[in-house]
Amino acid sequence: MVDSVTVVKFAGCIVPFYVLFRYIECYRRNTLLRNIPTVGYSSSLLSYISAFRLFLHSREIIGEGYHRYHGSAFKIAQINQWHVIVSGPRMIDDIRRARDDQLSLRFAADEATQARYTIGDYRHDHDFYRVGAIRSSITPAIGLRFSDVRDEIVAAFADEVPASQNWIKVPVIETARRIVSRTSNRLFVGLPLCRDPDYRDLNVEFTIDVMTSAQILLLFPDFMKPFVARLVTNIPKQIHRAANLLRPYIQDRLDREMEYGPDWPEKPDDLLSWLIDNTPAERKSVETIALQVLIINFGAIHTTSIAFTSTFYFLACHPEFTDPLREEIQSIVEEDGWTKAAMARMRKLDSFIKESQRMAGNGVTSMNRKVLKDFTFSDGTTVPAGCFISAASWATHNDDNVYPDAHQFKGFRFVDVEANHMVSPTLDYIIFGHGRHAWYVSSAATNHWWLSKNSSPGRFFAVNELKAMLAHILMTYDVKFEDERTSPPPPTWFEMSLIPDLKAEVLFRARV
Ligand code: HEM
Repeated sequence: MVDSVTVVKFAGCIVPFYVLFRYIECYRRNTLLRNIPTVGYSSSLLSYISAFRLFLHSREIIGEGYHRYHGSAFKIAQINQWHVIVSGPRMIDDIRRARDDQLSLRFAADEATQARYTIGDYRHDHDFYRVGAIRSSITPAIGLRFSDVRDEIVAAFADEVPASQNWIKVPVIETARRIVSRTSNRLFVGLPLCRDPDYRDLNVEFTIDVMTSAQILLLFPDFMKPFVARLVTNIPKQIHRAANLLRPYIQDRLDREMEYGPDWPEKPDDLLSWLIDNTPAERKSVETIALQVLIINFGAIHTTSIAFTSTFYFLACHPEFTDPLREEIQSIVEEDGWTKAAMARMRKLDSFIKESQRMAGNGVTSMNRKVLKDFTFSDGTTVPAGCFISAASWATHNDDNVYPDAHQFKGFRFVDVEANHMVSPTLDYIIFGHGRHAWYVSSAATNHWWLSKNSSPGRFFAVNELKAMLAHILMTYDVKFEDERTSPPPPTWFEMSLIPDLKAEVLFRARV
C-alpha cells in the first residue's frame, strides 16, 4: 500500500514539471499568435473592447484586415479566444487542401453551435451531421423525386400566399421558413408528416433555439455553460417533441425490420430508411433517429430560408430582371417540364441566385475551422492548435479586384462564365465553404472513411430547391416592395452572421 507521504513526494516532483510544461506550451502558442498581426487592440485586457465591437462591426473589422493584410493572415479578438482570418486564393486553397485531422470543420461547428451544451453528446458520433445520409439519400433523390419537390412547393405557396387579384403583404422570412421546411421534409420524411404544422414548427423552432442559445452561451466561460444552458435552452423538450411526432413512423419501420429483416417488402427509399439502416444496432431507437432528423433539418432550413430571403429581396427590387427570367423559365419548362434537368438549364436564374448570395451572402466568414494540430500555411505562417481560423468570405465576394463593380448588383454576371454554376465552389466564391471533409459511413458494408473534396453536402439540394421556388414565384405572381425601393432592406450583422431583414414584407399578386 502506498502511504500518503510517498504520494505527496511524488506529486511534489511531478507538479512543477507539469506547470513548466504548460507554461512553455502557453508561451509557444502566444509567440506563434504574436507573429500574426492584430486588427483591433492586441493587449490581453483591451482586446475585450475589440471583442465586444466585433458583435456589431465584424464586417468593418474583417474588411480592414482584408485590405491591410490581403493574401496573408491577421487575427481578431473574440470574447474567449483569438480568431485567425485569411484571404487570397493561396491561403484559401491551403484551408481547402488541409486534412480534417489538421483543420476541423466538425469541431468548429461544435463551437459555433455550442453542441456540448445544446445538442448534446450525440456530437461524438463519427457522422454527427449525417453527411453520409445527405450524399447517399438526399442528393440522388433530387432527380428521382423532383416531382414531389415541385408538388410540395406548389401546395405550400397555395396555402401560404393564395393567388389573389389584389396585392397582399407577405412577411418573407417566416413564410420562407415554413415553405422550405415543408419542401425539404417532403424528401426527408414524406407525406403526411412534412405538412404537419406541429412538425414544421418544431423544425423551425429547434433551429432558432440552437442558434440563439449558442450565441448566448458563447458569452459565458466554460464552467458556467451547463447552468446557463439549462436556463436558456428548450432543446431537451424539443428533442422529446420530435421523438413523439416521429415515433409512429420510425417505430413502424423498426417493427417491420424486426419481422422481415433489413430489406422488407415496400420499404420506402428515403432519408428515414437510410438513417435506420446506418445507425448501429445498439443505438437504433426512436429517440436517436428523431434527433438525427432534427439535426439534418437544422443544417437545411435556416441556411436555405436565409438564402431564399436575400435572393428574393433582390428579385422584388430589381423588376428589370423579371421578364428575361420568365422567358428563360417558360421556354425551358416547355421543353423539359418541371424537372431537375430543367433546373440545371436555367443559367440566368442560377446566376441571379449566385449574384444575390455574392452580395448578401450568409456571413462575414466561411470555411470556419478549428486547428487540431499546429498548421503552417504555404506563406510560412503557423497557427497554433486550439485556435479557430476562417476565410474572409464577404470581403472577398465584395472586392472590386475579384468581381469588377463588386458593389453593383449584376443579376446575370455569371451567365456567360462556363462551368461557373452556383453549386461549384471556387477559391473566390465560398458561400458553401470549400474543402475536403472526412466523413464516415457506418454501415457494415461500407465501414470505412471516405474523403469528399467538396463543401456543403446539401448545396445540390438547396440550389435545386431555391431555383424551383423562385421559378414558381416568377411564373405565378407579380411581386414588389410597397415603397418600390431599388435596393434590398439593410441586413443585420451580428458577430460573424449576416441576417437579411427579418421584418420586411413584400407585396404579391396573382400574375395578370
Ligand atoms: C443555401 C443553403 C446552404 C448554405 C449556404 C450552406 C452552407 C454551408 C457551409 C458554408 C458549410 C461549411 C462547409 C465548409 O466550411 O467547407 C456547410 C456544411 C454543411 N451543410 Fe450546408 N449549406 C446549405 C444548405 C444545406 C442543406 C439543405 C443541407 C442538408 C440537406 C446542408 C447540410 C450541411 C452539412 C451536413 C454540412 C457539414 C459537412 C461536413 O461536416 O463535412 N446544407 N453548409
